Amino acid sequence: MVPADHKTVVIGVSGASGAVLAQAALRLLEADVRVAKIHLIVTETGMRLLAHELSIVTSDAKQLPSLLIGRRAAKTEVLPNKDVGASIASGSYPVDAMIVIPCSMGTLATVAAGTSDDLIARAADVCLKEGRRLVLCVRDTPFSRIHLENMLRVQQAGAVIMPAIPSFYHQPKTIDDLVAQYVCRVLVQIGLPQDEMYRWEGQVKSKAREV
Ligand SMILES: Cc1cc2nc3c(=O)[nH]c(=O)nc-3n(C[C@H](O)[C@H](O)[C@H](O)COP(=O)(O)O)c2cc1C
Repeated sequence: MVPADHKTVVIGVSGASGAVLAQAALRLLEADVRVAKIHLIVTETGMRLLAHELSIVTSDAKQLPSLLIGRRAAKTEVLPNKDVGASIASGSYPVDAMIVIPCSMGTLATVAAGTSDDLIARAADVCLKEGRRLVLCVRDTPFSRIHLENMLRVQQAGAVIMPAIPSFYHQPKTIDDLVAQYVCRVLVQIGLPQDEMYRWEGQVKSKAREV
């Protein structure tokens, strides 16, 4: 039996740049003892991004999680984006949180419109209607007024807008450092703080003046 504090998390990967963010999130969630089950949905363009940015190509969707994390992904089940009748399409199926990482402006618009015409949009819609945590890791630049209005709309409906914007105050040395800090901040949003996350503890004023 799954302990009550073990979470079920949905990860949506849409066609925005930043496939490495999805990869890092999946790695951390697979390794996290507080997570019992992960449902992974990748949109058609999301698959294209995985091929383009990570050279991950497969016709067997079941292999995708293991290809992404580089080892056996025991907790992750891939669900076809066309299957709006999948388990997570119903509010009666217990899900704790959903992250769309990266989240394209297209998927954002579909969630904002509530059209639920594919599984990623329907699962997000279910999170909103059930009052569950939904984190959208939106990425584009610059944002148009339509993008910003869609963000406001979903935020007002309960979603967390977590733009894929890296931080630099933790003095990252590598792209991995940038990615890890961002993804850790995303996981905090669904109640899964990570030990490796840098936490700002204030700055000694005299040192700040020296630089
Ligand atoms: C290589 C590539 C990179 C893209 N990057 C972005 C992006 O960063 N942000 C975005 O909103 N759309 C981006 N797009 C466009 C979306 O993928 C496109 O609008 C698509 O219809 C979104 O569909 P989806 O949300 O179902 O994945 C990109 C497309 C490609 C092929």
